[in-house]
Amino acid sequence: MKYRIATIPGDGIGPDVVAIAVKVLEAVAGKSGFELSFTEAPMGGVAIDRFGTPLPQASEETCKGSDAVLLGAMGGPKWDGLAGDKRPEAGLLGIRKALGVYANLRPALMFPQLAGACPLRPDLVAGGLDILIVRELTGGIYFGERGRSADGQSAWDTERYSRMEIERILKVGFEAAMGRAKRLCVVDKANVLESSRLWRETAQAMAPKWPEVELSFLYVDNAAMQLVKNPRQFDVIATSNMFGDILSDEASQITGSIGMLASASIGDSGPGLFEPIHGSAPDIAGQDKANPLATVLSAAMLLRYSLKREAEAKAVEAAVSAALDSGYRCGDIASKSPGEKLVGTKAMGEAVLAAVEGRLE
Ligand code: IPM
Ligand code: MG
Repeated sequence: MKYRIATIPGDGIGPDVVAIAVKVLEAVAGKSGFELSFTEAPMGGVAIDRFGTPLPQASEETCKGSDAVLLGAMGGPKWDGLAGDKRPEAGLLGIRKALGVYANLRPALMFPQLAGACPLRPDLVAGGLDILIVRELTGGIYFGERGRSADGQSAWDTERYSRMEIERILKVGFEAAMGRAKRLCVVDKANVLESSRLWRETAQAMAPKWPEVELSFLYVDNAAMQLVKNPRQFDVIATSNMFGDILSDEASQITGSIGMLASASIGDSGPGLFEPIHGSAPDIAGQDKANPLATVLSAAMLLRYSLKREAEAKAVEAAVSAALDSGYRCGDIASKSPGEKLVGTKAMGEAVLAAVEGRLE
């Protein structure tokens, strides 16, 4: 069996962390007896510099022709002055849309070894945290009509959702809940926004299909508060593109570090897109400092969702846990307690590689 993986290292620390995840995937393939071919697709700031566009057509084709796409990060201060549709981030939004990956799964999982890195009171997270954020990814205000008035003195962005878009993302939420603690919380702003009222209406209409799932609703402001007040109340959260963007950063921090959280973006068919939820951290790019674990865990999701290799996905996740057990910590997750070994990107990668090879012997 041979799979084609497109890689989009992107900007900043993107290439640092993608290189590690590729090594881990190669090791897994070698041990498990399948083949992987990797093709790099330039996108984001690097593509602006080389080709004058954040999403070159050839890169898009490489991704569409692959079995799965592994992405690092896009953006940086160098390109901050560019107009919205010329920025590196336009490459990221463009490839999500082009691949039709409307469902963004962002597990906020706390590794018990990193409980000390959680900024919340220990009693609030005793027993760990395991929340799945299901973020709508190809609609809403990110893709709605936007513009500026002729005099430049007013500007607008539009939140717009169709029932079809809401139904397909909520279906992912209900089904995910079925495989977990069977609680689904739909987060919206239905006390103000008409589009949110459509989300609520749609969720209520769908609920009878999943009678075992306990469905609840929260306004996004309250949800943001509840996440730090009592995070263990959450199992699956399903929400719109922008609310999901915001809440997933918050959820990541309560699990310890944004450097640990992976994501999978999937559609109805075609390749999935797998990326860490963190950004390009240009201040530490190329310095062997970035934590590669979020990207390694994204590679595990790639194995699970696109290649249907559950055992291998679990082996990678267990290897990450083993590296943490052995005390390896990058700067973002270090707590200076005894037994910790502060390491860089590459050494963390080596620790995971050694552990994953052992697991797939
Ligand atoms: C994310 C990021 C992106 C987003 C940015 C870089 C466009 O914040 O993946 O969460 O808002 O979706
Ligand atoms: Mg974000």
